[in-house]
Amino acid sequence: MIRKCDDRDFETIYEIVNEAAEVYKGIIPADRWKEPYMPRDELRHEIDADVHFWGYEEEGKLLGVMGIQDVLDVTLIRHAYVRTAEQKKGVGGKLLSHLRTLTSRPILLGTWADASWAVRFYEKHGFRLVTPEEKDRLLKKYWSIPERQIETSVVLVEESWSDES
Ligand SMILES: CC(C)(COP(=O)(O)OP(=O)(O)OC[C@H]1O[C@@H](n2cnc3c(N)ncnc32)[C@H](O)[C@@H]1OP(=O)(O)O)[C@@H](O)C(=O)NCCC(=O)NCCS
Repeated sequence: MIRKCDDRDFETIYEIVNEAAEVYKGIIPADRWKEPYMPRDELRHEIDADVHFWGYEEEGKLLGVMGIQDVLDVTLIRHAYVRTAEQKKGVGGKLLSHLRTLTSRPILLGTWADASWAVRFYEKHGFRLVTPEEKDRLLKKYWSIPERQIETSVVLVEESWSDES
């Protein structure tokens, strides 16, 4: 079952994000890794900035979460994390498909350039990488992230996205 998360899910979202993010350790640039990867105050900040988390639940337990955030004229998919033991079983795909039904705006998403599995996951779902120049422009326009994270990230867009948008 896919459902919207609320404040009661805060600790579980925190746990899932930080468990799944362990995979970044040693893969993303060392200066971008921290433990926990997403501290509670950062997660709270994201929720306060209107990142709405949705969760995939089975037998009353959340197995994965994914956030959606409207920014200016687009929708961003933010913070996609599935419990380590539940990855590669379709949970992320179902969450992504569900979130896509919630907006009629163009969808953009960003991830670490080194997270090749995440790029493949999104490509499998019809997203494509934009050029480095377009990536810089989009990350500056739609995300609030430090310059160093811009350098080390990629952006994917839906096939229908036009770079002149
Ligand atoms: C990326 C993620 C959200 C995808 O969710 P998921 O439930 O594992 O994905 P699905 O089962 O729906 O789709 C599986 C596809 O994703 C990709 N994929 C996901 N995890 C992978 C891994 N560990 N290794 C290789 N490919 C992987 C593959 O393309 C795979 O397709 P395949 O099984 O045909 O090879 C999840 O794996 C995750 O939490 N990863 C760690 C954190 C992360 O990278 N988050 C992305 C942040 S933007």
